[in-house]
Amino acid sequence: MFHSPILPRVRKRSRAAEVCVPGREEVKFEDVRLYLVERKMGLSRRSFLTQLARSKGFIVEDVLSDVVTHVVSENSHTSSLWAWLKDHGLKNLPNMHVLDISWFTDSMREGRPVAVETRHLIQETSTEASTPPPKATVSQYSCQRRTTIENNNKTFTDAFEVLAESYELNEIEGPCLAFRRAASVLKSLPSAVQSLGATQDLPCLGEHSKAVMKEILQYGHSFEVEKTLSDERYQTLKLFTSVFGVGPKTADKWYRRGLRSFSDVLTDSSIQLNRMQQSGFLHYGDISRAVSKAEARALRSIIDEAVHEITPDAVLALTGGFRRGKEFGHDVDFIVTTPQGGKEETLIPGIINRLTKQGILLFSDYQASTFDMTKLPCHRFEAMDHFAKCFLILRLEGSQVEGGLHAAEGDSRGWRAVRVDLVSPPMDRYAFALLGWTGSRQFERDLRRFARMERNMLLDNHALYDKSKKEFLAATTEKDIFAHLGLEYIEPWQRNA
Ligand code: UTP
Ligand code: MG
Repeated sequence: MFHSPILPRVRKRSRAAEVCVPGREEVKFEDVRLYLVERKMGLSRRSFLTQLARSKGFIVEDVLSDVVTHVVSENSHTSSLWAWLKDHGLKNLPNMHVLDISWFTDSMREGRPVAVETRHLIQETSTEASTPPPKATVSQYSCQRRTTIENNNKTFTDAFEVLAESYELNEIEGPCLAFRRAASVLKSLPSAVQSLGATQDLPCLGEHSKAVMKEILQYGHSFEVEKTLSDERYQTLKLFTSVFGVGPKTADKWYRRGLRSFSDVLTDSSIQLNRMQQSGFLHYGDISRAVSKAEARALRSIIDEAVHEITPDAVLALTGGFRRGKEFGHDVDFIVTTPQGGKEETLIPGIINRLTKQGILLFSDYQASTFDMTKLPCHRFEAMDHFAKCFLILRLEGSQVEGGLHAAEGDSRGWRAVRVDLVSPPMDRYAFALLGWTGSRQFERDLRRFARMERNMLLDNHALYDKSKKEFLAATTEKDIFAHLGLEYIEPWQRNA
């Protein structure tokens, strides 16, 4: 691979370019384009360093332009260097790494561009800068960020999620939340983080998160994450909790009994599986398989028909991940209600009835409403809501799904089992339930934290309570709730925090 012929290697010829041997060296690092600042460095040293870098496969630009990714300077005064850089009218300057020679020498020693660390950066300081540096624009609350399903930092967020999960399985809340918040911040970024320097102004990234990122930037993976993934306890708890009805406590109990596999559990005569867990094992292959958007649409039609048979004025809304635009989910979440106050309580039992008659109800766990407006506001953070709800497993026929089932290869049954959740709040609680069930979980956590910390309000799936005014705030739409909180409205597809 050689320098691209379309990139003018010699434009306006600088003195340095004239003394350099024209570059036909092999380019190894196409994404990195260096520019060495001659001021202070001097012409002959610059020529020497240019040749050295090119011989190691680096692209060194003769002219400072917007194609440059790494500007390297030696002995420069920060303020005069920045003033000089700004004089060039570069559009891309905010994205360039402006680096001390130490980054260059480290890279030459390693024979590759090393990850940019804070110690390499020549930072524009606010006292020296002609204009103050932009203030951190990323909020610490995900309800003030817009996060689509496009994640440009999956390598980092996957690593953080493994660690968060490991802490969660061990019931260590602090670091678990810290990694979840860090992952959520990175998910909201419009591009991939290329260097630790780029994380400087980001909130929620602590020392531990940064250390993990540093490993990934340097070695392509994190040793701590690898170690966690290969840990027997982590693997076993992950496996057990992947069964519908098995939570971290049960998984831990089984692990401490020495059980390591499903067959260990299923052949242990002292273990009494509850109804949910029995169904979880029975349909494990199907319900551990992601549900597609087309399958979610097919289920919507089925529920829609069922609920409208009970009452024509029923309201049905798809919530959860599919409302946020996800292509796949672990289940399909619906809200059902009706404007006839009190009648919403009959909806889920009616739906279950009809699904049973259709022969497609494989499992249901119905929980009647315990909602009582007089017991609000609820001060317990992240408590479950009190609306009537039902956790279901349904049989979905392939013929009802546009484009067919998302089934395993070689599966010729023509149907699959799917997890469905239904919740039925009273109509005047609909907006709160819709907001709460749309998620993501992190978005909800941050909405509640924002309400509490920034507005002295309490938000949950039932209501919004203003503690200062000692009153409940009414809402018929999600927009009303955002407005009460003084937040810009965030569309469902922007809530993938
Ligand atoms: P899910 O667990 O279904 O997550 O909960 P999801 O975002 O749809 O993702 P996948 O694709 O299914 O894995 C949906 C939302 O419902 C809320 C959760 O907090 C989440 O934000 N929820 C769930 C409640 O508020 N109460 C519940 O009892 C259950
Ligand atoms: Mg869901």
